[in-house]
Amino acid sequence: MAEGKKTTLVTAGRNKKWTNGVVNPPVQRASTIVFNSVAEKNHAAANRTNKTLFYGRRGTTTHFAFQEAMNEVEGGAGCALYPCGTAAISNTILSFVETGDHILMVDTCYEPTRDFCNKMLAKLGVETTYFDPMIGEEIRSLIKPNTKLLFLESPGSITMEVQDVPLLSSIAHQHDIIVVLDNTWGAGVNFSPFDHGVDISVQAATKYIVGHSDVMLGTAVSIEKYWPQLREQSYLMGQCVSPDDAYLGLRGLRTLDVRLRQHAESSIKVAEWLATRPEVDHVRHPGLPSCPGHEIFKRDFTGGNGLFSFVLKTTCPKATTALLDGMKHFSMGYSWGGFESLILANEPNSFNSLRTVANPHFEGTLIRLHIGLEDVNDLIADLESGLARYNSVILEQAVTA
Ligand SMILES: Cc1ncc(COP(=O)(O)O)c(C=O)c1O
Repeated sequence: MAEGKKTTLVTAGRNKKWTNGVVNPPVQRASTIVFNSVAEKNHAAANRTNKTLFYGRRGTTTHFAFQEAMNEVEGGAGCALYPCGTAAISNTILSFVETGDHILMVDTCYEPTRDFCNKMLAKLGVETTYFDPMIGEEIRSLIKPNTKLLFLESPGSITMEVQDVPLLSSIAHQHDIIVVLDNTWGAGVNFSPFDHGVDISVQAATKYIVGHSDVMLGTAVSIEKYWPQLREQSYLMGQCVSPDDAYLGLRGLRTLDVRLRQHAESSIKVAEWLATRPEVDHVRHPGLPSCPGHEIFKRDFTGGNGLFSFVLKTTCPKATTALLDGMKHFSMGYSWGGFESLILANEPNSFNSLRTVANPHFEGTLIRLHIGLEDVNDLIADLESGLARYNSVILEQAVTA
C-alpha cells in the first residue's frame, strides 16, 4: 500500500460511485434491482460478481464501499461479507474443503471454530488435527497428503499465544496448503496478513471494526488466487449482510486506528500494573515478555489493542466471584472490541475441553480483560478493589480452615 495505513482508513472505499459525492455512502437497501432494457439487464448479469447492481444478495453500493475499503485496508483482492465472524470462519473453510480432506487447526482457536470442526467438518468427513500454537517447524510432521487448509488465530483466544505466521505459512505453501488466519485481534491494522504469507484473512468485524458492540459482522479478505472460489461458494451458501451493518462496519474503519491506539496505550498500563501485583502469577499481554510469542509480536505486529489475560496464583471460585461481582467499570460479556471494558474468568479445568494438545495447565484462574476507552486510572482502581475483595475471601477461608 503506497500511503500510510491511517490515511487508507480515512479514504478507503470512498469512491464517488458508492458515495455519490457525500462523505459516507448512503445506506442502499435492495432486494430487487430493476433494469430498463435487456442490454442493461444483461450487463448487470455479466458483471454481477464485480460490484455491479444485480440482485440484493450480491450487494448494493453500501456493501461495495465496505468491501472495497476492507480490501484496501488489508491489501487483498476481494472481500466477502458474512452476518458474523463465526459465519466468516465456517464459510471460508467450507468453501475449500471436501470429504476426505484434512485440515490443521491451531489448538488455541476461538471455541466455536473448534466446535465447527468437531461437529460439522467431522460430519462431512473432513478430519481436523489440532496443533500447539508455538509448534514452529514441527508443523511439517502433521502435514498429510490430503491436508488442504491451515487455520491460524494469532494471538490465540484467551491464552494469547502469538504464532509464527510467516514460518507456518511458508511451510504450508510448500505443500500447496491454503493458509487462513483469524485476524480479528490484529484488526487488519496492526497485522498485515498478506505480507506474512496468509491467503485469506478472516475477521469478526463485530469486534474492533464496528467498535461499538452493536453489530454482528464478518469479513474474509482473500488473495487473487482464492477470491473467485471464496466469493462464489460463500454466495451459494447464501451469505450476505444488511446494508445498515455494512455501513456501520465502514464507519467503524474511520476511527479504528485512533481507537486501537487508545485501547493499546491503556491495556499495556493495566498489564504492567497487574504484573506488579502479588496475586498475579503472570500476565499474558502480547506486548510483555511474559506472553508466549512476545518476540514474534514485536517482529510482526505494528501495534496492540485492549484484549489480554492474566493468570492468578491460586484458584478459588468464591474469591473470583467476589472479584467479578463487585466491578464498577468492567462488565462480564462474551465479546470484545467495543468502547467498554469487559472481564471474564476461566478456571484451570475449563481448558480441559478448550484444548487438546496445548492445555496450559495453569495453577490459578485466568482472567481475560478487554480494556475499553474509559480513564485508565479508573480501570486500575476498579481492579485494585476487585483484588482486595478477592484477597479478603481468601483470607476468610484461611482463617476458617
Ligand atoms: C477471535 C474471534 N474470532 C471470531 C469470533 C466470532 O465472531 P462473531 O461473534 O462475530 O461470530 C470471535 C468472537 O468472540 C472471536 O473472539
